[in-house]
Amino acid sequence: MPDTTPLLELRNVTKTFGSVEALSDVDFEVRKGEVMALVGDNGAGKSTLIKCIAGTHTPDEGHVFFEGEEVHIHGPRDAARLGIEVVYQDLALCDNLDVVQNMYLGREAHDRFQRLKEPIMEQRTAETMKSLAVTTIGSIRRPVATLSGGQRQSVAVARAVMWNSKLVILDEPTAALGVAQTEQVLALVRRLATQGLSVVIISHNLHDVFETAHRITVLRLGRNVGVYDRATTTQQEVVSAITAGAPTKVSGIPQVAPEATA
Ligand SMILES: Nc1ncnc2c1ncn2[C@@H]1O[C@H](COP(=O)(O)OP(=O)(O)O)[C@@H](O)[C@H]1O
Ligand SMILES: [Mg+2]
Repeated sequence: MPDTTPLLELRNVTKTFGSVEALSDVDFEVRKGEVMALVGDNGAGKSTLIKCIAGTHTPDEGHVFFEGEEVHIHGPRDAARLGIEVVYQDLALCDNLDVVQNMYLGREAHDRFQRLKEPIMEQRTAETMKSLAVTTIGSIRRPVATLSGGQRQSVAVARAVMWNSKLVILDEPTAALGVAQTEQVLALVRRLATQGLSVVIISHNLHDVFETAHRITVLRLGRNVGVYDRATTTQQEVVSAITAGAPTKVSGIPQVAPEATA
């Protein structure tokens, strides 16, 4: 079980774009070693919230705390310095480069003659893959283009983890994956938390959410409408929160009560 010390805390965060209030007075908390799912309909504010954490956006109002201290995150570098890494949906891997090169993309290790420290890069990549039990990739010298979707996602996650990160944010990590590869990635997400990392997973797939998350935060129309414990809630309850209690269709049960049609 994760402890209850918050790693990241947002309080009363508001963000507007012109006349659109994308986030209204949002509180959001992620504890150490916790997988927090962030769910909500299209336009609920999930991406905006993530961008406020990653430094792509600055909140108009509200406060952000990391490890108990108030922080001002003004860009991905600020986020990275704190130990916050985001894996965006498009993954941003370079197909023509191999796994090691992708792990170090933009952060290549050089010696004092500006030569790439290939052996060190290779060793750290191998160690990271091993520590995350990513065993399916084969050679880390394979071009990323030859990997399956699940393997690519594993490389993107491993890359995020390798930089001393404390919080890894995954935006729809299984959206493009088949069943077996999805399970691979979900297992990896669970291992991150076991190793003490905190994870935020955005997903519209409640199966993925219930397979990985300790808690679930629901956004609706820019507001936090509920935080649920996975262990004590049901998918039905979460769906209701997402859709504002709109009745959900249960297959096999007629939509119109029999007496109404009689
Ligand atoms: N850069 C932007 N400019 C204007 N409106 C935006 C921008 N980003 C998001 N929005 C609006 O903010 C709301 C929340 O969007 P978003 O955070 O992308 O939701 P989600 O990721 O949950 O689908 C939507 O109404 C969206 O149209
Ligand atoms: Mg989005």
